[in-house]
Amino acid sequence: MSTSVTWLGAWTPEQGSERVRRLFEARFGDGPADGTWSAPGRVNLIGEHTDYNGGLCLPIALPHRTYVALRRRDDDLVRLVSAQEPAGPREVRLADVAPGAVDGWAGYVVGVAWAMRAAGLPVGGFDVAVDSCVPYGAGLSSSAALEASAAVALDSVFGLGLAGSGDDEGRARLAAMCVRAENEIAGAPTGGMDQAASLRARAGHALLLDCLDGSVRHVPFDLAAHDLALLVVDTRAEHALVDGQYAARRASCEAAAARLGVATLREITVDPRGLEWALDKLDDEVQVRRVRHVVTEIDRVTWFVALLDAGEVDSVGPLMNASHASLRDDYEVSCRELDLVVSTALAAGALGARMTGGGFGGSAIALVRADAVDEVAKAVADAFADADLRAPAFLVATAQAPAA
Ligand code: GLA
Repeated sequence: MSTSVTWLGAWTPEQGSERVRRLFEARFGDGPADGTWSAPGRVNLIGEHTDYNGGLCLPIALPHRTYVALRRRDDDLVRLVSAQEPAGPREVRLADVAPGAVDGWAGYVVGVAWAMRAAGLPVGGFDVAVDSCVPYGAGLSSSAALEASAAVALDSVFGLGLAGSGDDEGRARLAAMCVRAENEIAGAPTGGMDQAASLRARAGHALLLDCLDGSVRHVPFDLAAHDLALLVVDTRAEHALVDGQYAARRASCEAAAARLGVATLREITVDPRGLEWALDKLDDEVQVRRVRHVVTEIDRVTWFVALLDAGEVDSVGPLMNASHASLRDDYEVSCRELDLVVSTALAAGALGARMTGGGFGGSAIALVRADAVDEVAKAVADAFADADLRAPAFLVATAQAPAA
C-alpha cells in the first residue's frame, strides 16, 4: 500500500525565536519585544493518571516547543497575538482575569500572570506574540508549553528570579503557578505532570516526578546509545481534557481514597496487604478498577526506572504494554485509534507501546529499534488507512531541555 507518512518536525530554537520576534514586530507595529523565550511539550514514558493521586510519573521534554516574544508594559493591560490566529490583538486587563472570564488560549497566558499576582509577585501588563510547533490537541501538552513559556518570560521581564537554570525550587514554584492557571483560569482539572516536565526536565534525562512531595530525580535516558528510538504517534482523534471524562476519573479516585481513609491512593502499596485489602474494602466496581490501575501503574514506574538505572532500557517494553492494558481495561481512557497504534506497532516489531497523556485520543508511544522507525510508522499509517481512520502523524522524541 502507498500510504504516506506525515512527520511533525520541530523548529530549531533559532527558527522559533525568529518567528515570534517577527510576528511581534509585524502585529504590534510599535517596536521590538524585550526578548524571546520558549518551553517544550512533553511525552510521558510511563505513570499515567498517577499525578493527581500523589503518585509517580516519568515524562521527557520534547524538541517541539512553544515560543513567545514578550515586552513588559507599565499598565495592567495584556495584548496577545498568535500566529495561529489572524485576528487580534486580543486585549485583557489583568484586573479582569478570573475563573471563566477569559476564553481559549489567552486564558493560559494571562492565567499565569494572574497566578503570579495571586502569589504576591510584582507582575503587570505585557504584550506577547505566540507561535508553536507543539502539535495542538495531540496530548503532548501544548497548553503546559504555553503556560511555561509565559512563566519564564514573565519571570525574566519582571525580575522574579525564579527560573534560573539551576534553580529547581524556583522552577517548581513557577510550575505550581502554571497549574493554578490551568485549573482555575482555563478550567482543566489536570494534575501537574505537564507543567513540571516543561519547566523542570533536563536534556538527555527523563524526569522522575514524585507528585506526593513534588520532588524530582533526573534519570539518564539516551535511547540512541542503545540503538533505540521513541516513536510518537498523534492519532488525531478528538481529545479534550476540559470535558467531563478526565474530571470523572479524578473524582472517582478521590472518592475511593476517602472510602479507604487515605489522603491519596499513593498510600496503597501494590502488595496484598495494600492493594488486595483496598479492593476488598471498596464496594463500587468502577472504583475497584480505577484504584487497581493507579496502584499498579505507580509500581510500574518504579520498575521502569529500575531498568533505566540498570542500563536495561531494552527491557521496559512489557511494562509499557501492561500500562496500556491497564489504562484501556481498568481506567477506560483509551480509544480505538490508540489501541490500533499499540497493536500495530507491536505486530511490526516494537519492543513496547502504550497510550500517553490523558487519553480519549491524543498520542501513543512505541519503543522501537532505531533502524525500524520508518517501518513501524508505515505499518501504523497503513493500518489507519485500512480502518478508514484519519491519517495519524508521527514524531521521534528525544529528551530535551526545559523552558528558558
Ligand atoms: C493529562 C494531564 C496530566 C496527567 C495526564 C495523565 O496530560 O494534564 O496532569 O494527569 O493527563 O497522566
